[in-house]
Amino acid sequence: MASPRHFLTLLDFTPAELQGLIARASEMKRDHRAGADQRRFHGKVLGMIFAKSSTRTRVSFEAGMAQLGGHAMFLSPQDTQLGRGEPVEDSARVISSMVDIVMIRTYGHDIVDRFAEHSSVPVINALTDDFHPCQLLADMQTWSEHRGPIAGKTACWVGDGNNMCQSYINAARQFDFQLRIACPPGFEPRPELLAANRDRVELTHDPVAAARGADLLVTDVWASMGQEAEQKTRARQFAPYQVNEALLEHAASDALYMHCLPAHRGEEISAGLMDAADTVIWDEAENRLHAQKALLEFLLIGR
Ligand code: CP
Ligand code: NVA
Repeated sequence: MASPRHFLTLLDFTPAELQGLIARASEMKRDHRAGADQRRFHGKVLGMIFAKSSTRTRVSFEAGMAQLGGHAMFLSPQDTQLGRGEPVEDSARVISSMVDIVMIRTYGHDIVDRFAEHSSVPVINALTDDFHPCQLLADMQTWSEHRGPIAGKTACWVGDGNNMCQSYINAARQFDFQLRIACPPGFEPRPELLAANRDRVELTHDPVAAARGADLLVTDVWASMGQEAEQKTRARQFAPYQVNEALLEHAASDALYMHCLPAHRGEEISAGLMDAADTVIWDEAENRLHAQKALLEFLLIGR
């Protein structure tokens, strides 16, 4: 049997496939809003493994699967044998023999790699410590709906060199834009990822320099899930890296700013920007639903 396609990072799909997904996501969004019946996956089951908390990811996958006529099953390690030490490889063989597609949110990226290697059905990375590719589908869809093609534009990442930042590095490569990263010393993304993308990615510790003339500013929490104990010390180190009205002044006059959420107003983003009437952050969150429906469709029927 041919091994299934997986979506573990943005590099698993070609640039053309990613562009196709974004276009399809916007089309499915329009159809959904027009009240179209999108049920085409009768009897199909999505297994959702969540080792970390989630609002957007769970709601969007579960609602999306229901809208597509299938079913989504929530599996937490606390309630399954995964949490009692059953090997990931064994769990993958068993779970994938019963469901049609699997989504995993977990800690080490090696866990989704190992699961995918032993899965007979497609596996989607719904966030690891290293990458969050589903969020990038939504971000790229949001950019495209508001501004058209992102190719040739300049995005600026402000904050931690975390899973979202590293996904933006992959996005810069796959969607053909320049990325400037401004992070506090010691919080850079992985050096090998930077080295592999030297032509598109610049690293600095100066948020103003990074934001100057940028078309898109992006940020995320200063302490990710699993780093809660570092929250206080990080808050001090990251204080100069807030995306706020003053920083936005340095960006292009029509710049957009994004945040994957959940957000901490007054930390990585100002309350004013979060609550601005013209922010696209809520579209960005909603687009998780549409982008992942397009992703499920692509992986389930290859469209
Ligand atoms: N942005 C995102 O993945 O949100 P959740 O953690 O709520 O799923
Ligand atoms: N970097 C954050 C993203 C949450 C969606 C985390 O990993 O907690």
